[in-house]
Amino acid sequence: MGKTIAIANQKGGVGKTTTSINLAASLAKTQRRIMLIDIDPQGNATMGSGVNKEELTCSTYEVLISEARIAEARIAVDAGYDLVPANGELSGAQVELMDVERRESRLREALRSRRASFRSDTGRRKCRSACRAISEPAYWQQYS
Ligand SMILES: Nc1ncnc2c1ncn2[C@@H]1O[C@H](COP(=O)(O)OP(=O)(O)O)[C@@H](O)[C@H]1O
Ligand SMILES: [Mg+2]
Repeated sequence: MGKTIAIANQKGGVGKTTTSINLAASLAKTQRRIMLIDIDPQGNATMGSGVNKEELTCSTYEVLISEARIAEARIAVDAGYDLVPANGELSGAQVELMDVERRESRLREALRSRRASFRSDTGRRKCRSACRAISEPAYWQQYS
């Protein structure tokens, strides 16, 4: 059974991105199957994983608005984990999901279908505090 870890903090510059990337890479070295989900429109975890955020065809944004499944968005990175990348488009999800019922369940539902087919043991979310509509689902994922 996979485990999910949410890395989130209201404050910027406290090491969320750094922790996410290093934890993902470290756990991947222990032969665990790891998926890092970038939920920050800044896309720093994406860039830090060696993926150019300006060249994404599918990202966390498409997953949250149900235009793609996690399996379609994930990218195997050199550090040995899978990344669901993000970029500035993700800012739009906050607005687009504002009136959507059960928006807090979007990521959970996406991950549920992922669990049936995906190879990761541990999901990891990197959350940006300022983006509440987006980061809150990650909290729900972790604690529900
Ligand atoms: N454990 C640490 N010790 C010292 N500096 C750190 C540590 N973790 C992160 N940093 C530095 O702090 C800054 C902010 O880190 P970052 O991971 O981008 O924070 P956040 O994602 O929370 O905004 C970066 O310059 C990073 O290199
Ligand atoms: Mg960051």
